[in-house]
Amino acid sequence: MTLKSKILGTGSALPKKIITNDDLSKVVDTTDEWISSRTGIRERRIALDGKTSELAARAAKEAIKAAGLSAKDIDLVITGTVTPDMAFPSTSCFVQLELGLRAGIPAFDLSAACSGFLYALDVADNFIRSKSAKNVLVIGVDLFSKIVDWKDRSTCVLFGDGAGAVVLGATKSKAGILSSKLFSDGRKWELLYSPQDKNRTPFEDVKSKAKSAKNSKDSTSDSTLKMKGNEIFKLAVRSMGSAVSEALKEARLKPSDISLLIPHQANNRIIKAMQQRLKLSDAQVFSNIEKYGNTSAASIPIALDEAVKSGRVKRGNNLILVAFGGGLTWASTVIKW
Ligand code: UT7
Repeated sequence: MTLKSKILGTGSALPKKIITNDDLSKVVDTTDEWISSRTGIRERRIALDGKTSELAARAAKEAIKAAGLSAKDIDLVITGTVTPDMAFPSTSCFVQLELGLRAGIPAFDLSAACSGFLYALDVADNFIRSKSAKNVLVIGVDLFSKIVDWKDRSTCVLFGDGAGAVVLGATKSKAGILSSKLFSDGRKWELLYSPQDKNRTPFEDVKSKAKSAKNSKDSTSDSTLKMKGNEIFKLAVRSMGSAVSEALKEARLKPSDISLLIPHQANNRIIKAMQQRLKLSDAQVFSNIEKYGNTSAASIPIALDEAVKSGRVKRGNNLILVAFGGGLTWASTVIKW
């Protein structure tokens, strides 16, 4: 039997601070009615003082424990995030430090926005199947509260902070990752992005004072998240729908074989559209968007962890995970539990 990878344990971590729709209506011109009817979101968590690496480490610690392993067993860390504590070191290196993972193992972050966790899971799966790693810590974490424009009602109401993690291990059993598909289209990057002013070099400042004044103005330019919601909505439904079909085809399964669809939690209307397209019942679709909003790379691993802990995932079930986000990127993974 060929070597596959299998999720051995899951974990998640959320900040304590809850921000309700009513709380937001005091900050921007919005209402609970608008947010909940258009998105399904009722509240989200915000890490007021917390760091990305701290939430990631909490989720990871739980996943390692749930896997029945200890820190010394982990031989690779991959974190999907676009909101790391620092440009470098990576979040994965901070998690390695925080949890006392072995020194010398590889650890790196991966940037694929809301698809970051499924991208990281696929990379981990390839490490395992090529026998380059045995037990991989895969994390999805984002703190979008740090990058949204809290004056823009069309985006700030959508996002929340969180982290989710799994330990992926080698297996020769029938269970495990059956197929995984990754996609991107850089041509449409302007539909969803978070600018960082990396186009100027401080070297220019020493060359001329006039230029320096101009550049310092540039450097304070708006670096908050931008999204064309309507266009993203349509592309998300279409792209996630086709990603699901492709991953199912590769796994030789039909939509009716799916026990649980765990989609990226960006908008309940997107989730419902996918449910209708695949002709799935409510029991076959997982949603927790009302509690956390869109937590970007963390959304799928948090949902998976909740689905496992609440008993909605049983041995032998076929799960399909599907994501869509900035890049544009999208991805799907079929797992036999
Ligand atoms: O994670 C990455 C993937 N992200 C997504 O998949 C998000 C996809 N997009 C969406 O979920 C939806 O497009 C949104 C929730 C962002 C917006 O919903 P929509 O139904 O597409 O609304 P809209 O942008 O067409 O705006 C409708 C109206 C506008 O007013 P007018 O022009 O009709 O007068 C907006 O100004 O709603 C207004 N509006 C709001 N009103 C109250 C926008 N945001 C708000 C708000 N509260 N927070």
